[in-house]
Amino acid sequence: MKFLNNFMQQLTLDHPIIQAPMAGGGDTPELVATVCSTGALGFLGAAYLTPSQIIDASRAVRARTSRPFGINLFAPLPEPPIPDNLQMAMEQVAPFYEVLGLPFPEVPRIQGPSFDQQLSAIIESGASVFSFTFGTLSPQSVEIIKKHGLFLVGTATTVEEAVVLQDTGVDAVVAQGSEAGGHRGTFLGDVEKSMVGTIALVPQIVDAVSVPVIASGGIMDGRGIAAALALGASAVQMGTAFLTCDEAGVSEAYKVKILTALEQDTRLTEAFSGRFARGIVNEFMTAIDCASATKAILPFPLQNTLTRPIRQAAAKRGRTEYLSLWAGQGTRMSRRQSAKALIEKLVRETDATLHHLKSGVR
Ligand SMILES: Cc1cc2nc3c(=O)[nH]c(=O)nc-3n(C[C@H](O)[C@H](O)[C@H](O)COP(=O)(O)O)c2cc1C
Repeated sequence: MKFLNNFMQQLTLDHPIIQAPMAGGGDTPELVATVCSTGALGFLGAAYLTPSQIIDASRAVRARTSRPFGINLFAPLPEPPIPDNLQMAMEQVAPFYEVLGLPFPEVPRIQGPSFDQQLSAIIESGASVFSFTFGTLSPQSVEIIKKHGLFLVGTATTVEEAVVLQDTGVDAVVAQGSEAGGHRGTFLGDVEKSMVGTIALVPQIVDAVSVPVIASGGIMDGRGIAAALALGASAVQMGTAFLTCDEAGVSEAYKVKILTALEQDTRLTEAFSGRFARGIVNEFMTAIDCASATKAILPFPLQNTLTRPIRQAAAKRGRTEYLSLWAGQGTRMSRRQSAKALIEKLVRETDATLHHLKSGVR
């Protein structure tokens, strides 16, 4: 693609393509490094990693490529109060524990390293880009990140969020449309009211901010990339399209689910983590989300901790009916190949689309 803009120049990218961070293991160092080696930008989703795991994963990327790569965290969230529906939530998921041969669930607690501990590891990691979702960062965090020369990217699902992020000093904004797989980045107002599709969201954010905008959500091939560029985006961030690559760290059964899912097979759910995310509908999601069960969902991240043993056991046994099958609405366009082959295809398709649009010939 003979396409270059300021954002790509700043990050020394050959292609305006970003492999989305996918916390939970989809974005293996092998996937990230392969993406970076092609001249696109790979991301490690580090939200669930300890500082030493962040350093190890970054070393594994660095061992494979010297190209720039990114790391992503969830913005720090206030700790939720102890919920009064703990027992109900535990009883609600207990049958799924039982069917997988697990003992009755333990009371979930907030675990894991603090954002500041993770950020310190990222500063040492050798990453060139730091992105985040679910909120904004404190001025102190922004200052530390900038002082160490990292390019800073926040995630917005509305124009208002993009403007707030720009005001806090980010260098670029991911515009996450409602088609997107995985968790919603929404941090101002109601998630359901912030379900704006990529084609409507991107140009409205482009008009409202002066920093580069990265289009994300439902982009699966070169037609989607060309469309995003036409809307004013400087690059695209694609998650689902990379999950079915050979290097992606999700199970074969999950890949097959994506490859065979239709565009109407995903929806938003709070069932797995207590925070809205888009995934392929399955038995667990349906059971926990049903009207009578909704009150038994704990706030994020407690619900995530409560359902983790189910997801881990289900992953080992290939039981996709109990897994969080995060995926966007573009599933019918998903393809099976190496990450290198995918990026080569994306580049060719984008070129062809731009050429067809110019020449009027298909
Ligand atoms: C499995 C999965 C995990 C994700 N994890 C993260 C994450 O850790 N951090 C983040 O900023 N976005 C995460 N996302 C959202 C992506 O950044 C992006 O917005 C989304 O994948 C775009 O939609 P698409 O899947 O249709 O390409 C995740 C998406 C998926 C599919």
